Amino acid sequence: MRLEDLTLIKPAPTPGDTSWFTHDRFGMFIHWGLYALGARHEWLKNYERIPTEIYDEKYFRHFDPDLYDPTLWAEAARDAGMKYFVITTKHHEGFCLWDSAYTDYKATNTPYGRDVLTPMVDAFRSKGLRVGFYHSLLDWHHPDYTVDACHPMRDNEDYIARDKDRDINRYVDYLHNQTEELLKRYDPVDILWFDFSVGPNARFAGKGKETWRSEELLQKIRAINPNIIIDDRLQIDQDVKTPEQYMPDEWVKVNGTPVVWEGCHTFSGSWGYHRDEQSWKSVDQLLKMLIDCVSMGGNLLLNVGPTGRGEFDERAYERLRGIGKWMHRHSRAIYGCTQAPLEFECPRDCRYTYNPETKRLYLHMYSWPFGKIRLSGEVAEHVDYIQLLSDASEMRFNYNPEARTVDIPLPVYKPLGAEIPVLEIFLK
Ligand code: GLC
Repeated sequence: MRLEDLTLIKPAPTPGDTSWFTHDRFGMFIHWGLYALGARHEWLKNYERIPTEIYDEKYFRHFDPDLYDPTLWAEAARDAGMKYFVITTKHHEGFCLWDSAYTDYKATNTPYGRDVLTPMVDAFRSKGLRVGFYHSLLDWHHPDYTVDACHPMRDNEDYIARDKDRDINRYVDYLHNQTEELLKRYDPVDILWFDFSVGPNARFAGKGKETWRSEELLQKIRAINPNIIIDDRLQIDQDVKTPEQYMPDEWVKVNGTPVVWEGCHTFSGSWGYHRDEQSWKSVDQLLKMLIDCVSMGGNLLLNVGPTGRGEFDERAYERLRGIGKWMHRHSRAIYGCTQAPLEFECPRDCRYTYNPETKRLYLHMYSWPFGKIRLSGEVAEHVDYIQLLSDASEMRFNYNPEARTVDIPLPVYKPLGAEIPVLEIFLK
């Protein structure tokens, strides 16, 4: 078959501009809020049923990230090969990182006394990264936010009884106002990442697109910024599907149609800074997650939870540096890449990514086999030249047209500088 006639999956068109997004492939998620001080999960207010007065008495009153320097964050992201970042402007706890006109519950009113969002946006932009805002639809602080199955006060009868005085629509006005405020103040924001819609349970109603007035909110957003990328958690699919903390088995589909998607993952489990969590993924594992996503046409959004003093912790730096080391030599197998043509059979323990512009196929070798690696079937007929991506060293090969195979002899030792070796295969 001719190369042009092979089957290349293209995702369904999106209302916003996802062209840069499906090229850049790799972003940094940042979860930062008062929960960094609790340092035991960003849901601690919920898990431990902590009343707002106590939560604020502890964390709002002590929020003082004296070591905060967003330039260091932006450099760490850039050096890891990340091209955009998504910061929690407000998480479920309700605390706002920017100087919002609509609330007093914000960074400027803590001991730190300053807006932390503006310098962050400036720092990341100046290092060449695009800007995304995660914004929580849930709000465990707002006085009009009614109790639901995910609320910290769901077992507190006195608190629940006062729901009759709460007007969720007033909260939703606040949500809309703050969204518009963020979009205007930091225009152009590249991504809006809403989180999430709550299902009902036996006792409480859910909160979904009717509650959030999602249609109306989307119109307001597109009026300010028609190209912005919006996720799917307003309960109306927009530009990107967001599989969280699991790896899909194939290109993510909606009603059978492949769509733009981005997997989001933590280093350890918690999104906010968690001091004692020991379940950290290795650099090798994280890189394979990135490659897996791209090999199925998706992006990876990898999360860091900065500490209450405003730093990435050492474990995060160690992972980011390791990823950056590999990306330095291998990002060509990530940026601009997508799933390989469906006709290409991938050898055992390997993944393909493919750049349709340059017509280069990348073979990521998750284990180093002994002696040789074989490409079989359709792909064998398209091989023009092969090199090891890390150092552009030629990989000689033997093409057998009858058997439709390409055999690539390998040295016994895995070459240095290629933690996950990649063969760059120029196709004809
Ligand atoms: C979840 C959690 C949350 C986290 C988010 C990231 O929905 O509520 O804490 O921010 O996923 O995808």
